[in-house]
Formats: sequence, C-alpha cells, structure tokens
Amino acid sequence: MLILAVESSCDETAVALVRDGRTVLADCIASSVEMHKLYGGVVPEIASRKHIEVISQLADQALAQAGVTRGDIDAVAVTYAPGLIGAVLVGVSFAKAVAYALGVPLIPVHHVRGHIAANYLTYPDLEPPFICLVASGGHSHIIEVLDYDRFRLLGHTRDDAAGEAFDKVARALGLPYPGGPELEKLALTGDPMKYPFHSALNSSAEEADFSFSGIKTAVVNLMHNAAQKGEALSKADIAASFQRAVCDTLTLKAVHAAKEHGFNTLALAGGVSANRALRSSLALACEEQGIRFCCPDFRYCTDNAAMIAC
Ligand code: KG4
Ligand code: ZN
Repeated sequence: MLILAVESSCDETAVALVRDGRTVLADCIASSVEMHKLYGGVVPEIASRKHIEVISQLADQALAQAGVTRGDIDAVAVTYAPGLIGAVLVGVSFAKAVAYALGVPLIPVHHVRGHIAANYLTYPDLEPPFICLVASGGHSHIIEVLDYDRFRLLGHTRDDAAGEAFDKVARALGLPYPGGPELEKLALTGDPMKYPFHSALNSSAEEADFSFSGIKTAVVNLMHNAAQKGEALSKADIAASFQRAVCDTLTLKAVHAAKEHGFNTLALAGGVSANRALRSSLALACEEQGIRFCCPDFRYCTDNAAMIAC
C-alpha cells in the first residue's frame, strides 16, 4: 500500500511517500523557520502562506524522488490536529483535493500519533505495546501505546510542554529561535549541577504529571536577581542546569511509568527527542532497569510527513 502523506501543522511543510507503513520512498521537507527567526517565534500567518507557496512542488518532488506516479497512490494521509489552524488548513485542503482527484481514501492523522510512529520507521521490528514519552513544542505526554491505534494517557505536563520550556528559556538567555537545539549547544560547555531547578511535583516518581513552567520562572528570576545586583552569571551553567532538570524529570516519570505498568520497552518521540542529553539520560536509566529504549533517527524527531504516513 502506497501512502502519500502531508504535514503542515507548524512551520515545516512536508510530503512523504511510504510503502506498507514502514518503507520510506520519499521524505521532502521545506521549512519557513528563517522567516520566523526575525520575530523570535513562529508567526502563524507567515507559516500558512509559506505552506501554500511550496506544497504542490513538494508533492511533485516527492513523486519524482520515489519514482512513482500519481496513479500509484492508494491513499492520502494528513495531519488534521493539533497545530496552527491556518497552517493545518493548507495541508488538509491540499490532501483533500488530491484524494478527491485520485478517487482514493483520505486518512486524518493526529500529529502526536505521527510522532509516536516515527519509532516504527527507525525500528522495523518494533511493535506495540510499549510506553512512549512524547516531548514536543506543544505536548509532553507519557502514553501507553496499547496497539497501533489504541492509546492511554498516563501523565502529562500541567503547563508548558518540554519544547516550549526550552524555547522560552533559550529566549531569556538571548538565543535565537528555535531555542531547543541552541540551548542544547550552549549547555555542552556549562555545569549541569550549578543550579538545582527541582520541584516537589517533578521529583516524585509516583506522581505521573509534571510541570515545566516553574523551572522556566526560576531561570528568569535567577537572571533578574543577578542583573539587579550587578552579578555576572554563566549562561552556559544556566542552560546545562535547566536541561538537566527537564531530562531528570522526564526520565524519572517515564521510566517509573514503564516499570509500574509492566512494560519492557520505552520509546521517545517529538521534537525534543532530538536532544542528546535526554536520549542519553533515558538510555542509561532504561539500561539500569532492563528496559529496551527506542528513539527515532534524528531526521524523524522533528516534524516530517514520513511519520504521518506510517
Ligand atoms: O515536534 P516538533 O518539531 O513540533 C511540535 O510538534 O511542536 O517539536 C519542536 C520542539 C521545539 O520546541 C524545539 O525547540 C524542540 O522541539 N527541539 C529541541 C531540540 N530539537 C528540537 N529541544 C531540545 N533539544 C533539541 N535538540
Ligand atoms: Zn511535532
């Protein structure tokens, strides 16, 4: 079965062709991030307009890359939610038109399910059930993946998503958008033990939920206080300590959920799964507990259409 998939929920326009759910024939992405950098965050209207400009050419490019024709497509899949509404609308309208013109089914896909599926592309043998930690710009969820289409939410952030917290702290540190990867780079030269940004909620393994807004506020307060007193702070130490607090929290909660619910596989997904500190922290904790750890190839961590097709 050959699926054409479309993803346009944020600032990436993506079209992919995937055979039988796991073989990626083409995976094309165009990003408007350079435009958004000027504003320090994604401007929804600009994202929508950029999607319109490139989506048709991207689909043609995907067909050429895969060496297939329109007639070979068996179904069209598209991210229908969640996302920036105008941006999602462009992808959905395009996918609807293609499906209608070709007379094939249109399959609406939830973006978070797509992120989870990125693991199937990376590990051909991976099958449900397993626990998945989804950490992206909009979500931080610990999910029981019971089957390919059956999920149960075990815990989640009570406020900011992990990626959102990375972006906001990066902004406070004066780093360009998107802040996550920039903060990770800065953290490499910092001391992760310098500042303890921990809270009671985040330190309790039994409590499935967590919170990142407090850590973000603690960073901002620390910087304000230092500025008022004229004290110099190491931005690298702040970045490293913040990253450690987020990684410690996510690792503690996800590994505890896997153990408590009797799962021997833990997968990571979403944009923040590209973070090497988080990958190592989870890999180490899983190894200690005898749990198999899976995380997507770097190219499938952030938004793409191959995961939507899968
Ligand atoms: O999944 P994604 O591409 O879009 C959403 O569904 O939200 O995730 C984007 C988020 C952004 O907040 C970005 O800063 C974060 O993932 N991110 C990272 C890294 N790469 C992307 N956060 C920390 N470290 C990274 N290396
Ligand atoms: Zn995403």
